[in-house]
Amino acid sequence: MDRRVSDQIDGYARKVAQQFKFLPEIILETRTISLQRLSSIDSGRTRPKGRNPLSHVIGVARAGSYVTPAFMLSYQHIYHAGNLADVHKHGLLAWILNYLTAKAKPLTYIETHAGRALYDLQDAAAIKTGEAAAGIGKVASWFDDTHPLTEVLTAARATHGPHSYAGSPLIAAHLLRPDDRMHLAELHPGEHAALDFALSSFPAKCYQQDGFELAHSLIPPTPRRGFMLIDPSYEIKRDYEDIPRHIAGFARAWNVGIICLWYPILTAQSHLPMLTTLEKAHPGAFRHEVRFPPARKGHGMIGSGMFVINPPYGLETEAARVSDRFATLTVDR
Ligand SMILES: C[S@@+](CC[C@H](N)C(=O)[O-])C[C@H]1O[C@@H](n2cnc3c(N)ncnc32)[C@H](O)[C@@H]1O
Repeated sequence: MDRRVSDQIDGYARKVAQQFKFLPEIILETRTISLQRLSSIDSGRTRPKGRNPLSHVIGVARAGSYVTPAFMLSYQHIYHAGNLADVHKHGLLAWILNYLTAKAKPLTYIETHAGRALYDLQDAAAIKTGEAAAGIGKVASWFDDTHPLTEVLTAARATHGPHSYAGSPLIAAHLLRPDDRMHLAELHPGEHAALDFALSSFPAKCYQQDGFELAHSLIPPTPRRGFMLIDPSYEIKRDYEDIPRHIAGFARAWNVGIICLWYPILTAQSHLPMLTTLEKAHPGAFRHEVRFPPARKGHGMIGSGMFVINPPYGLETEAARVSDRFATLTVDR
């Protein structure tokens, strides 16, 4: 694409992004995706004959038919699947579900931001960021052969090929039993279709719906015993403001539910006001954070956090073990 077109779209992208209060890292990622999409419009496949390419591209962008989906839901977990934040989140998730399923009583699993469930770590997007290679590719041995995360990842590789990686819905699907219930929300149409396909052999309900809205409508669930994972992409700054209100509602309506929020630790410290509110509202919750080197020079994420309401017995011990492993990574504190 010509430089002038690229600069104009960049300016427009920034304006829209500011309007929607996107975080700087997301703006950058979004711009790349948008430029790819807009380049394909400009390639002439959709441009009416004789129309100036620049005004066509800007016109389509303004009409919102390309910019809106790209901006509203630009995040794709394939760029980050298997990174150190996933290792933290998925390790604890697998441990908790393994603990809960040791008891004969059935349970409900709710996930508000599911993603596509199955990732190919040889995908160009995963290779491009190198996050999986620096994550699960490097530290899989932190989890021994009997750890539930190892069991699930081994099963996923046996079924889907040696480069596959299980996202949280697939981890849950592997560990849950026939009497347990699974409800998964994923708003992005492409990710939702992939999720539905990846889980087609499991008794999971996949909704293309806002995850917070779905969770409010389901709780208290049947069976009442259970677990909720909230794993937003934090694409919109407002997420940080809204999450404590949603979680307060979940905890009120489902006082026995284990409610678990993942959050990134960013150099910008955007998570801190949210955490202060959460800790005040849920003094008995368990908070676990790990630090790691940024995926790339200048990348804003330097750690991963889990905030767990009604933490199961033994979680603190497992989390301390995980902390010891993360402490072996070289981190500038
Ligand atoms: C961090 S990814 C999920 C990763 C997944 N939990 C895992 O660990 O494998 C967040 C997902 O939430 C989706 N999403 C964003 N906003 C959403 C919303 N309001 N409701 C449901 N899904 C949403 C995004 O499309 C993205 O796929």
